[in-house]
Order: sequence, then C-alpha cells, then structure tokens
Amino acid sequence: MSITYNYEYSRKLRVCFIGAGQHAFRNIFPTFAFAPVELTAVCDLDPERAGNCARLFGALRTYTSHLEMLAKEKPDLVFIVTSYDAQGLPVYPALAMDCLRAGAHAWIEKPPAGTSAEIREMMRVSAETGRHVAVGLKKMFFPANLKAKGLSERPSFGRINCITARYPQQLPPHEERADNHKMVYFLDHMVHPHSVLLLLGGPLESLFVTRSASGAATVSLRFKSGAIGNLILSHGQSGSSFFERTEIIGEGENVVVDNNIRVTLYRSGRQTAGYGRSGDYFSLYEDESGPLHWEPEFSLGQLHNKGLFLLGYAPEVIHYTTRLLEGKGPEYGTLEDALEMLLIYEAYRKPDGHVHFIGK
Ligand SMILES: NC(=O)c1ccc[n+]([C@@H]2O[C@H](COP(=O)([O-])OP(=O)(O)OC[C@H]3O[C@@H](n4cnc5c(N)ncnc54)[C@H](O)[C@@H]3O)[C@@H](O)[C@H]2O)c1
Repeated sequence: MSITYNYEYSRKLRVCFIGAGQHAFRNIFPTFAFAPVELTAVCDLDPERAGNCARLFGALRTYTSHLEMLAKEKPDLVFIVTSYDAQGLPVYPALAMDCLRAGAHAWIEKPPAGTSAEIREMMRVSAETGRHVAVGLKKMFFPANLKAKGLSERPSFGRINCITARYPQQLPPHEERADNHKMVYFLDHMVHPHSVLLLLGGPLESLFVTRSASGAATVSLRFKSGAIGNLILSHGQSGSSFFERTEIIGEGENVVVDNNIRVTLYRSGRQTAGYGRSGDYFSLYEDESGPLHWEPEFSLGQLHNKGLFLLGYAPEVIHYTTRLLEGKGPEYGTLEDALEMLLIYEAYRKPDGHVHFIGK
C-alpha cells in the first residue's frame, strides 16, 4: 500500500466533523494528513473543543449545531466521533441519517448503534438517499490482520478449519444485560474481536457463551463457512499484558498474529526424518517450508511503524475517502458488517449456556 500525502491529491472531498473529543483529536483528525480531504468545519456541543480541533487541524469554521453546519457547509462527507446518549445508546444512527438526508456521506465511529433495528434503518436511509455510511471497525484495517487474511487465502493454506482469538473484555452477568448503561463497556469493545473474526472467518452462524464468575468468558463459534472458532474474553489479565492473539488454522498450515504486529505463517512441508529420528528441529523440515515471520522495525520515521497505520486508523480513512472519490462505498466497515456486529451483540444479551443462532 503506497501512501499519498494530503497535499498531493488532485481531487479532495469537502469534509466536516461532528464530535471533537479525545479520540477524534488523538486518532482521527491526524489521519487527514494522508487522505484526500479538505476539512472545512468542526462541530461540537462544546465550542472550546470544536475550536481546539479547528485551529490545529486547519478547519475554517466551528459550530455547536450539526444541522446548521450541514445546511451552511454542504459537505461531501461528515466524520462523526461522538458518544452515548442519556439512555446509554450510541448517538451515531440519528446523526448519520441527518447527514445522509443533507446529501452527505457519513463515517461513524464504533459502536455504530445499540440495536440491529437502527442499523437496518440506516441501511434504508442510505439506499433511499444514495449516500454511503462507513463504520470505524478499525481492526478490519490492521495491516497484520489483513496480512493474516491474505495468507489464509493462499491455495496451500486450504480451507479455514478453525480460528482462535483472545481479547480482554468483561461480560456482565445475564441479569444486567438488559440495562444499556451496564452494557456500555461491553458494546464499546465487543466489535473489536468480532470484527477481526468477521474479516478472517466471514459471518457467524451461531455462538455459545460460558462465563466465569467474575466475567471472563469462552465463546464457541460456528461460522457460516463451516469453520469453527473460540474467542476467549480474557477479563482479569494484567493491564501491562498484550491484548490480543489470533490464530487461523487451515489444512496443513496455520498463521498466528501476536499483539497485532507479529505475523507468523507455519507452512506445510515435507518432513525430512521419521518420527524419533531427527536430532534437531531445524532440519526436521526443509528450509523452503520453514515458518515465515514478519514484524515492523522501530528505527526509522516511517509510516508503516506508526500507531496511526498499525492500528488501522489511517488505512480505514484512506480506504473510504479514496473509494468515495471513485463513486464507490466501503468494502470493509460496511453497514452489513455493522449489522453482523449488532446481531452478535444481541445474541450476547441472551442467557448463557444456549446455542444462539445469529440473526434468528
Ligand atoms: N476505535 C477506537 O480505537 C476508539 C478509541 C476510543 C474511542 N472510540 C470511540 O470514539 C467515540 C468518542 O470517544 P471519546 O473518548 O473521544 O469521547 P469524548 O466524550 O471525549 O468525545 C465525544 C465528543 O462528542 C461531542 N458530541 C456528542 N454529541 C454531539 C452532538 N450531537 N453534536 C456535536 N458534538 C457532540 C461531545 O461534546 C464530545 O466532545 C466513542 O464512540 C468511542 O467508542 C474509538
């Protein structure tokens, strides 16, 4: 992936921004250095926050009403990085549909909604207005995850048999799961492991949850492809630990992604010595079929070793904005992907110890 700097694009989208909070300031506005966008205005309910972002990131005007901003600025695309309402539900669907109806495309952060019904409503308005919505499912854009996906699609990998993933997340007890406020943290984060699983394994057919007394969980998964999987919600681990480890197992090969940066492919190969005969593990297989390993260097001031790229933020924004300029919607982080996330979320809200079929 070769990167173009903002000032090198010959065509740009006219862009507005709703929600100038911490995440927007830290991770989303900075991606504009590498995307075909012209930031014209920033809106936040807090005018000081809007002003801070506008000054630093070069917007010309600020607003405290997004409706006024949409009417006056007539943007091509609006980034929305807000939060939850008083009912504990994400405010993205209502804001995104205001943008679509004003003739703009929308990019919304996760979690995209609190119910699958709201995603279906956004799909309906998107189809009606002919405007796209992309969702910040950043893990679908991590270079390490995309590399693992590509490796698992090589003919030598065979069909995916199983996928295991781990993510530190606490699942509230069942009696609290109808309470949106008690579910905020879970809803906020469950899209991370599940968007990786969607990227690698495709849609789920069912899940089965077993929860520990304090809220860790093991989740048995069956993908529509016929593959199976297991997600460990590793609540209780140290804050200084790595978060994630993902493994895809095919037919004679497997690939491991450690800490979202180290990718190892264990290749299929011919064994050179019989069982009990090899005196060292290097000559057990021919070098040509030994494992392959990638990880970034952290010496040079490159793009590929920046968190902005490693954590998918710049790639997801570049992906959406460049596709919009080609007249296309997103390929990843679509409303269909968001619907899958919310259907899975709704399955988690049901009692443990049952097989829940996704979307049924
Ligand atoms: N993908 C990630 O890695 C990641 C990381 C952190 C946060 N997030 C997500 O980003 C979002 C924002 O998180 P944050 O920590 O920056 O929150 P925050 O509270 O710091 O920022 C939200 C901002 O939105 C503004 N806002 C809310 N409703 C608005 C409206 N109707 N019009 C204008 N402005 C409005 C608020 O005034 C606030 O400034 C959340 O959805 C969160 O889940 C994603």
